[in-house]
Amino acid sequence: MAGCTVVDHPLVQHKLTLMRDVSTPTAVFRQLLREISVLLGYEITRDLPTEPTTIKTPLSEMQAPKLAGKKVVLISILRAGNGLLDGMLELIPSARVGFVGLYRDHETLEAKEYYFKVPDHLEERPVLVLDPMLATANSSIAAVQRIKDAGARNLKMVCLLAAPEGIAAFQAAHPDVPIYTAAVDEKLNEVGYIVPGLGDAGDRIYGTK
Ligand code: PRP
Ligand code: URA
Repeated sequence: MAGCTVVDHPLVQHKLTLMRDVSTPTAVFRQLLREISVLLGYEITRDLPTEPTTIKTPLSEMQAPKLAGKKVVLISILRAGNGLLDGMLELIPSARVGFVGLYRDHETLEAKEYYFKVPDHLEERPVLVLDPMLATANSSIAAVQRIKDAGARNLKMVCLLAAPEGIAAFQAAHPDVPIYTAAVDEKLNEVGYIVPGLGDAGDRIYGTK
Protein backbone atom coordinates (compact mmCIF):
# COMPACT_ATOMS: atom_id res chain seq x y z
CA MET A 1 0.00 0.00 0.00
CA ALA A 2 1.65 3.24 -1.14
CA GLY A 3 2.47 5.58 1.69
CA CYS A 4 1.81 2.92 4.33
CA THR A 5 4.66 0.73 5.59
CA VAL A 6 3.83 -2.40 7.57
CA VAL A 7 6.72 -3.27 9.87
CA ASP A 8 6.44 -7.04 9.64
CA HIS A 9 9.54 -8.02 11.62
CA PRO A 10 8.91 -11.36 13.38
CA LEU A 11 9.59 -9.88 16.84
CA VAL A 12 7.06 -7.10 16.21
CA GLN A 13 4.46 -9.60 14.99
CA HIS A 14 5.04 -11.93 17.96
CA LYS A 15 4.70 -9.14 20.50
CA LEU A 16 1.63 -7.77 18.74
CA THR A 17 -0.05 -11.18 18.95
CA LEU A 18 0.54 -11.22 22.71
CA MET A 19 -0.89 -7.71 22.99
CA ARG A 20 -4.04 -8.61 21.06
CA ASP A 21 -4.77 -11.53 23.41
CA VAL A 22 -7.60 -10.53 25.74
CA SER A 23 -5.98 -12.42 28.62
CA THR A 24 -2.76 -10.34 28.54
CA PRO A 25 -2.63 -8.29 31.76
CA THR A 26 -2.15 -4.52 31.83
CA ALA A 27 1.47 -4.53 32.99
CA VAL A 28 2.49 -7.02 30.30
CA PHE A 29 0.53 -5.11 27.63
CA ARG A 30 2.33 -1.89 28.54
CA GLN A 31 5.74 -3.58 28.53
CA LEU A 32 5.08 -5.17 25.12
CA LEU A 33 4.04 -1.82 23.67
CA ARG A 34 7.25 -0.29 24.96
CA GLU A 35 9.28 -3.09 23.34
CA ILE A 36 7.43 -2.83 20.02
CA SER A 37 7.88 0.93 19.93
CA VAL A 38 11.65 0.51 20.10
CA LEU A 39 11.50 -1.89 17.13
CA LEU A 40 9.15 0.39 15.17
CA GLY A 41 11.32 3.38 15.98
CA TYR A 42 14.41 1.60 14.69
CA GLU A 43 12.72 1.02 11.32
CA ILE A 44 11.08 4.44 11.07
CA THR A 45 14.26 6.42 11.77
CA ARG A 46 16.44 4.62 9.24
CA ASP A 47 16.38 7.64 6.88
CA LEU A 48 17.49 10.21 9.46
CA PRO A 49 20.30 12.28 7.97
CA THR A 50 23.86 11.88 9.27
CA GLU A 51 27.02 13.90 8.80
CA PRO A 52 30.66 12.94 9.27
CA THR A 53 32.45 14.14 12.36
CA THR A 54 36.06 13.72 13.40
CA ILE A 55 36.67 11.67 16.56
CA LYS A 56 39.61 9.89 18.17
CA THR A 57 39.30 6.20 18.97
CA PRO A 58 41.91 4.73 21.36
CA LEU A 59 43.88 3.80 18.20
CA SER A 60 43.48 6.60 15.68
CA GLU A 61 41.54 9.58 14.43
CA MET A 62 38.61 8.83 12.15
CA GLN A 63 35.64 10.35 10.39
CA ALA A 64 32.44 8.81 11.76
CA PRO A 65 28.73 9.55 11.19
CA LYS A 66 26.58 11.48 13.67
CA LEU A 67 22.95 12.53 13.38
CA ALA A 68 22.69 15.80 11.49
CA GLY A 69 20.25 18.67 11.81
CA LYS A 70 17.76 19.65 14.47
CA LYS A 71 16.60 17.15 17.06
CA VAL A 72 13.71 14.81 16.28
CA VAL A 73 10.32 15.66 17.76
CA LEU A 74 8.04 12.95 19.14
CA ILE A 75 4.41 14.03 19.49
CA SER A 76 2.12 11.77 21.47
CA ILE A 77 -1.64 11.81 20.90
CA LEU A 78 -2.99 11.41 24.42
CA ARG A 79 -3.53 9.21 26.03
CA ALA A 80 -2.59 6.00 24.23
CA GLY A 81 0.26 7.67 22.32
CA ASN A 82 2.20 7.74 25.58
CA GLY A 83 2.44 3.95 25.35
CA LEU A 84 4.56 4.38 22.21
CA LEU A 85 6.41 7.42 23.54
CA ASP A 86 8.24 5.61 26.35
CA GLY A 87 10.03 3.16 24.06
CA MET A 88 10.75 5.79 21.41
CA LEU A 89 12.42 7.97 24.04
CA GLU A 90 14.66 5.07 25.02
CA LEU A 91 15.77 4.89 21.38
CA ILE A 92 16.08 8.67 20.85
CA PRO A 93 16.74 10.12 24.32
CA SER A 94 17.56 13.56 22.92
CA ALA A 95 14.19 13.91 21.18
CA ARG A 96 11.96 16.88 21.92
CA VAL A 97 8.44 15.90 23.01
CA GLY A 98 5.00 17.34 22.33
CA PHE A 99 1.46 16.33 23.26
CA VAL A 100 -1.91 16.61 21.55
CA GLY A 101 -4.78 15.76 23.88
CA LEU A 102 -7.72 14.30 21.97
CA TYR A 103 -10.57 11.96 22.74
CA ARG A 104 -13.15 10.39 20.46
CA ASP A 105 -16.73 11.43 21.04
CA HIS A 106 -18.36 8.03 21.42
CA GLU A 107 -21.53 9.12 19.59
CA THR A 108 -20.05 10.95 16.58
CA LEU A 109 -16.51 9.45 16.60
CA GLU A 110 -15.23 13.00 16.04
CA ALA A 111 -11.99 14.02 17.74
CA LYS A 112 -12.29 16.60 20.52
CA GLU A 113 -9.12 18.46 21.47
CA TYR A 114 -8.41 19.28 25.12
CA TYR A 115 -4.65 19.97 25.15
CA PHE A 116 -1.91 21.09 22.75
CA LYS A 117 1.74 21.69 23.56
CA VAL A 118 4.56 21.20 21.04
CA PRO A 119 8.23 22.27 20.84
CA ASP A 120 9.38 25.38 18.94
CA HIS A 121 10.92 25.39 15.44
CA LEU A 122 8.83 22.45 14.22
CA GLU A 123 9.42 23.53 10.62
CA GLU A 124 13.10 22.56 10.93
CA ARG A 125 12.62 19.20 12.65
CA PRO A 126 11.56 15.68 11.69
CA VAL A 127 8.32 14.95 13.56
CA LEU A 128 7.01 11.50 14.52
CA VAL A 129 3.34 11.55 15.53
CA LEU A 130 2.49 8.66 17.85
CA ASP A 131 -0.87 6.94 18.34
CA PRO A 132 -1.21 3.15 18.51
CA MET A 133 -4.66 3.10 16.88
CA LEU A 134 -5.63 4.46 13.45
CA ALA A 135 -9.32 3.53 13.37
CA THR A 136 -11.55 6.11 11.62
CA ALA A 137 -8.37 8.29 11.64
CA ASN A 138 -10.42 11.26 12.88
CA SER A 139 -7.99 11.69 15.79
CA SER A 140 -4.78 11.42 13.79
CA ILE A 141 -6.10 13.61 10.94
CA ALA A 142 -7.02 16.35 13.43
CA ALA A 143 -3.75 16.02 15.36
CA VAL A 144 -1.58 16.15 12.23
CA GLN A 145 -3.48 19.21 10.99
CA ARG A 146 -2.83 21.03 14.30
CA ILE A 147 0.84 20.04 14.16
CA LYS A 148 1.13 21.26 10.55
CA ASP A 149 -0.59 24.51 11.56
CA ALA A 150 2.12 24.88 14.21
CA GLY A 151 4.75 24.72 11.43
CA ALA A 152 5.75 21.08 10.95
CA ARG A 153 6.63 20.09 7.39
CA ASN A 154 8.35 16.72 7.74
CA LEU A 155 6.01 14.30 9.48
CA LYS A 156 5.52 10.56 9.88
CA MET A 157 2.47 8.92 11.45
CA VAL A 158 3.39 6.01 13.70
CA CYS A 159 0.79 3.52 14.87
CA LEU A 160 0.49 -0.08 15.93
CA LEU A 161 -2.78 -1.11 14.29
CA ALA A 162 -4.60 0.50 11.38
CA ALA A 163 -7.96 -0.13 9.73
CA PRO A 164 -8.15 0.08 5.92
CA GLU A 165 -10.85 2.76 6.26
CA GLY A 166 -8.58 4.84 8.50
CA ILE A 167 -5.62 4.55 6.17
CA ALA A 168 -7.74 5.72 3.21
CA ALA A 169 -9.14 8.67 5.19
CA PHE A 170 -5.73 9.68 6.55
CA GLN A 171 -4.08 9.51 3.13
CA ALA A 172 -6.87 11.60 1.59
CA ALA A 173 -6.38 14.28 4.26
CA HIS A 174 -2.57 14.13 4.51
CA PRO A 175 -1.10 12.52 1.36
CA ASP A 176 2.33 13.93 2.28
CA VAL A 177 2.54 12.07 5.62
CA PRO A 178 3.64 8.41 5.43
CA ILE A 179 2.06 5.92 7.82
CA TYR A 180 4.02 3.23 9.68
CA THR A 181 2.14 0.42 11.39
CA ALA A 182 2.72 -3.09 12.70
CA ALA A 183 -0.46 -4.41 11.06
CA VAL A 184 -3.43 -3.50 8.91
CA ASP A 185 -6.52 -5.23 10.26
CA GLU A 186 -9.70 -6.33 8.53
CA LYS A 187 -12.19 -3.52 9.18
CA LEU A 188 -13.92 -1.15 11.57
CA ASN A 189 -17.01 -2.36 13.41
CA GLU A 190 -20.24 -0.36 13.70
CA VAL A 191 -18.92 1.60 16.70
CA GLY A 192 -15.58 2.48 15.11
CA TYR A 193 -13.40 -0.18 16.74
CA ILE A 194 -10.70 -2.01 14.80
CA VAL A 195 -11.54 -5.69 14.18
CA PRO A 196 -9.98 -8.01 15.22
CA GLY A 197 -7.86 -5.28 16.84
CA LEU A 198 -6.87 -5.30 20.49
CA GLY A 199 -9.73 -3.38 22.09
CA ASP A 200 -9.40 0.11 23.55
CA ALA A 201 -5.68 0.87 23.60
CA GLY A 202 -5.89 3.52 26.34
CA ASP A 203 -7.89 1.26 28.61
CA ARG A 204 -5.54 -1.66 28.04
CA ILE A 205 -2.41 0.44 28.68
CA TYR A 206 -3.74 2.09 31.81
CA GLY A 207 -6.16 -0.55 33.14
CA THR A 208 -9.13 1.79 33.14
CA LYS A 209 -11.69 -0.89 32.25
C1 PRP B 1 -8.25 6.13 20.82
C2 PRP B 1 -6.86 5.94 20.25
C3 PRP B 1 -6.80 6.95 19.16
C4 PRP B 1 -8.22 6.99 18.68
C5 PRP B 1 -8.29 6.27 17.38
O1 PRP B 1 -8.29 7.23 21.65
O2 PRP B 1 -5.85 6.10 21.20
O3 PRP B 1 -6.39 8.22 19.59
O4 PRP B 1 -9.03 6.33 19.66
O5 PRP B 1 -9.57 6.33 16.85
P1 PRP B 1 -9.91 7.14 15.53
O6 PRP B 1 -8.88 6.78 14.53
O7 PRP B 1 -11.27 6.61 15.18
O8 PRP B 1 -9.93 8.60 15.85
P2 PRP B 1 -9.51 7.57 22.61
O9 PRP B 1 -10.42 8.56 21.97
O10 PRP B 1 -10.16 6.29 23.07
O11 PRP B 1 -8.81 8.34 23.79
P3 PRP B 1 -7.75 7.81 24.87
O12 PRP B 1 -6.47 7.52 24.14
O13 PRP B 1 -7.64 8.96 25.79
O14 PRP B 1 -8.32 6.58 25.51
N1 URA C 1 -9.44 3.31 19.58
C1 URA C 1 -9.00 2.20 20.22
O1 URA C 1 -8.35 2.31 21.26
N2 URA C 1 -9.28 1.01 19.69
C2 URA C 1 -9.96 0.86 18.55
O2 URA C 1 -10.16 -0.28 18.11
C3 URA C 1 -10.41 2.01 17.91
C4 URA C 1 -10.13 3.22 18.43
